[in-house]
Amino acid sequence: MLDFPGIIMTDSGTFQSHMYGEVSVTNEQMIEFQKSIGTDIGTVLDIFTEPYWTKEQTAQSIEVTLERTKEACDMKGDMMINGVAQGSVYQDLREDCARRMADMDVDVHPIGGVVPLMEQYRYLELVDVVISSKKGLNPGRPVHLFGAGHPMVLALAVLMGCDLFDSASYAKFARDDRMMFIDGTYRLQDMQSLDCSCPACRSHTIEALRKMERNDRMKIIARHNLYQIKDELALVKRYVREGRLWELAEMRCRAHPAMLDALRRLEEHQSFMERYDPISRDGAMFYTGAETRGRPVFERYISRLMDRYIPATEKAALFYDEGNKPYSKAMAGDFAKARRAGYTPVVISPFGPVPAELDEVYPIAQSVFPKMEDVDTMLDSESSTARFIQCKFKETVNCKEVTDDGTEEYDADMIRAKAVSRYQFGIDATNALFRGNMELVISRKTGKIRNVISDGEHVLSMRAGDGLYTLKKSGADRIVSAVPAPFMRVMVTDDAAPCVSEGRNVFCPFVIECDGELRPMEEVMVTNIKDEVVATGRMILTADEIRSFKRGVAVKVRSGTGDEA
Ligand code: GUN
Ligand code: ZN
Repeated sequence: MLDFPGIIMTDSGTFQSHMYGEVSVTNEQMIEFQKSIGTDIGTVLDIFTEPYWTKEQTAQSIEVTLERTKEACDMKGDMMINGVAQGSVYQDLREDCARRMADMDVDVHPIGGVVPLMEQYRYLELVDVVISSKKGLNPGRPVHLFGAGHPMVLALAVLMGCDLFDSASYAKFARDDRMMFIDGTYRLQDMQSLDCSCPACRSHTIEALRKMERNDRMKIIARHNLYQIKDELALVKRYVREGRLWELAEMRCRAHPAMLDALRRLEEHQSFMERYDPISRDGAMFYTGAETRGRPVFERYISRLMDRYIPATEKAALFYDEGNKPYSKAMAGDFAKARRAGYTPVVISPFGPVPAELDEVYPIAQSVFPKMEDVDTMLDSESSTARFIQCKFKETVNCKEVTDDGTEEYDADMIRAKAVSRYQFGIDATNALFRGNMELVISRKTGKIRNVISDGEHVLSMRAGDGLYTLKKSGADRIVSAVPAPFMRVMVTDDAAPCVSEGRNVFCPFVIECDGELRPMEEVMVTNIKDEVVATGRMILTADEIRSFKRGVAVKVRSGTGDEA
């Protein structure tokens, strides 16, 4: 009827019947009806689980929703099915319901029952609900957040892994003269000025809008509200492409204290978020406030440092971050002095302790912090530095106490080359990569490490951008012999192995298994079923995504064995 050329999704009336009284249709009728009008994605007649419901009531209604979903899957034909994950505010029920939805033949995963949470500004609980649902859902299917329509929540929702949104709030708000902005909702009667340049508002003054006939005004406000949503979604997409969505979400969560609660709550789900966080990206990360420390990169850095770092000396000299990076350039003279005296320079940074040899790895050098540090960040980095120092060094001095007459010899490049390798690949792999006669190729232009050569074999190259390595075929062969599978491996089928060895990318369906500890953008070894290296490259997705995606690139292959002499 609408002659709309795009994809059409319809809802089942669950929410309307829940809010405005029983509608006497069955799930079966509702699915048939959606099929008959040519819907692309139809929705099951799920049972809306209210946040105030008891656990028993919630659990019972989930069973009904699951039964109806099964029924819908059996009769779906060519239509795709929205299988709604419910579960009120009970995180275990949410995850369990989501997992059972993931096992069914549904196509899209909406998260339902969240409208009351959003209406009541209970964003903190919304975070728990979305994350616990996401844990159970199939990562290969899109996730829809039912009823999310305020521009303020979109960045956070996308950060948590929601892909699709719907809401009638732009129109409902317009009926009450409420205008949505990125920093909240304002009543027309309370506003001092309009100052909006969206196409709906720009030719109107606030006085004119107020005096307008109600119906006309409602249309303008509804359009205004839609423009706000549209603009914000466009911005979210831009930040996703730039790999900076955390930054946008943090900025948006300052619009309302309840949103700030949500952001702070998200820190408690860090281990889940970390799985999806790329190991590195282009461009610097920006600090937006104390909550930035809740991003997974911070915890990941500290835990890798504690697990994988081996100091070159027993003594540490502590330096303070003065804002200039990389530290080894900014404080070159003082670092050299400390090293001659037998100390390892360690900088107390907003990330915590940074040994001089790791100061160029992402995100240490590729991050921008304000010069005036906040107390939380300071306390945090001091306590993690104390822990690090105690664990790794026998003696520590302040950089000012280092005496000048040291004569210790050291090779800063080799210390860095090994430290970065341990940080990136772990200690066992590094032992295999750095053995026998070692040589480093240093860039004459920048003075940076370019290649690592071990016993005449080129095993690693260092990237200037993120200070991390790309793995060469001969390096990969060594790791495969030294560290048992599945470490760093993505194993492909016999069908795919020859193409991959010629340099073709690895597509998800051809992956037999892969190391669950690998993160997006990490260096990997593509192996065949005999555990022989067929290529090296970079992981594009998470292990869970690779397991469930039916298409798409899993590993971007740099060099197959075929093209490498
Ligand atoms: N719209 C808003 N919330 C819901 C929900 O929980 N289920 C369905 N089907 N539609 C909704
Ligand atoms: Zn406007």
